[in-house]
Amino acid sequence: MTNALPSEAAEDKADVSLADNRADEHTSTWNALAGPVEPDGPTDALVELKERAAEELFRRIGARLNDPSLTEERLHALAREELGRIVESEQVALTSGERNRLITEIGADVLGFGPLEPLLDDAAVTEIMVNRFNQIFVERAGRLYESRSRFTSEAQLRRVIERIVSRVGRRIDESSPLVDARLADGSRVNAIIPPLAVDGSSLTIRKFSRTPFGVDDLVGFDTLTREMATLLDASVRAKLNILVSGGTGTGKTTLLNVLSAFIPGDERIITIEDAVELQLQQEHVVRLESRPANIEGRGEITIRDLVRNSLRMRPDRIVIGEVRGGESLDMLQAMNTGHEGSISTIHANSPRDALARLETLVLMAGMDLPLRAIREQISSAIDIIVQITRLRDGTRRVTSITEVQGMEGDVITLQDAFAFDYAAGVDEEGRFRGHAVSTGVRPRFVDHFNDLGIEVPASIFRYQPRDRVVLGEVG
Ligand SMILES: Nc1ncnc2c1ncn2[C@@H]1O[C@H](COP(=O)(O)OP(=O)(O)OP(=O)(O)O)[C@@H](O)[C@H]1O
Ligand SMILES: [Mg+2]
Repeated sequence: MTNALPSEAAEDKADVSLADNRADEHTSTWNALAGPVEPDGPTDALVELKERAAEELFRRIGARLNDPSLTEERLHALAREELGRIVESEQVALTSGERNRLITEIGADVLGFGPLEPLLDDAAVTEIMVNRFNQIFVERAGRLYESRSRFTSEAQLRRVIERIVSRVGRRIDESSPLVDARLADGSRVNAIIPPLAVDGSSLTIRKFSRTPFGVDDLVGFDTLTREMATLLDASVRAKLNILVSGGTGTGKTTLLNVLSAFIPGDERIITIEDAVELQLQQEHVVRLESRPANIEGRGEITIRDLVRNSLRMRPDRIVIGEVRGGESLDMLQAMNTGHEGSISTIHANSPRDALARLETLVLMAGMDLPLRAIREQISSAIDIIVQITRLRDGTRRVTSITEVQGMEGDVITLQDAFAFDYAAGVDEEGRFRGHAVSTGVRPRFVDHFNDLGIEVPASIFRYQPRDRVVLGEVG
């Protein structure tokens, strides 16, 4: 049924309004400090001095930036002292006010995150994308804007990157030019430098929100309806196995977190992630995080290793941040052998696509399984696929809740319980008017809810006619 819908489902077409260069009001003070908006500005000499001094400071104390025996205070004092000397040796005539300001700014550069600081501090910014030193985009309320903040040079950007990655004990250089790291506040960082990043270093920060979105937030954002939330809540409590499917940045992890919150507090939960992002409120949670290989290429612990290990930890629930490799097979086997109620996410653009991707991932486990056997495993393990999509208007919507019913011949049968009403069209501002509505088909798994004492009002499955009739679509 999903297939009958128009092509709006293609999430990567999300309108990013790049041209809509509404910059951040909040950064103007910083920019006044941070440097050249016009290359010939009167501060040119100062900017050059700043640049040189920052580089020199980094050269002198770079190695000590991550010395655990140094407190942050001591480090700042050290940097100030050293900077004083560097500025002195430059023999430029500065007023004491200028000198102080210079030292403070260089300090923020070398010790902090330079022009990223105001963006990191701004709670409305959810993602920061540094394309290259003089081009930074930010995401606010689901839309992308070019920020007025920028680095003064590639060298300044590199210093900030180095500072971020060395904080977590990683290294970035020509021989290992891409790194994943996390800031102290939990924000997720990816850095990639030349020669891989052709136009200069690039940095992407997914900001961590201290208070994660809850189900009410998502209902408030129109990501899903109250009825869908009720069904998902009941499904989690009934220990169905759920796969959240969606493209990059569509809100899979956020939705996974919301679904995990429905797990009753008396169950033992093991979470497995590449970088911890989930924030479960339950008491009985053990969090596991995979580990990349070290510089010598050793010591890697994969998601798959952790999934296998988790089975020996007496879990009631296994929550896997994302399946993207051979662990899929272990997950399916666990789901089929008594570890029901597991939840995970997968990168795919439709429920059908999620199944195809899962097949491919299972093959990555390296067991020579016939396709038919893989499909049987999948169809008996997964109960529900929740598809989340970032629409063209920038909003993130659950576009379908789909039941995995079983097999018909060699094909896994899917049945949408809810599907997005694209036919409702868009309003004057280009926002989609519709939301996912009940297809009128009551999922089979609901039959078990009664036995478990879980109630779902029958009314939520009542067929909701679409605003307009779409050709080829049947209720
Ligand atoms: N329903 C939503 N409405 C609005 N914003 C959302 C919603 N869900 C998530 N976001 C925001 O979108 C960004 C991406 O969310 P999230 O990390 O959950 O996506 P993801 O699909 O897991 O991304 P990735 O593919 O990188 O793992 C975050 O900044 C988050 O705050
Ligand atoms: Mg994610």
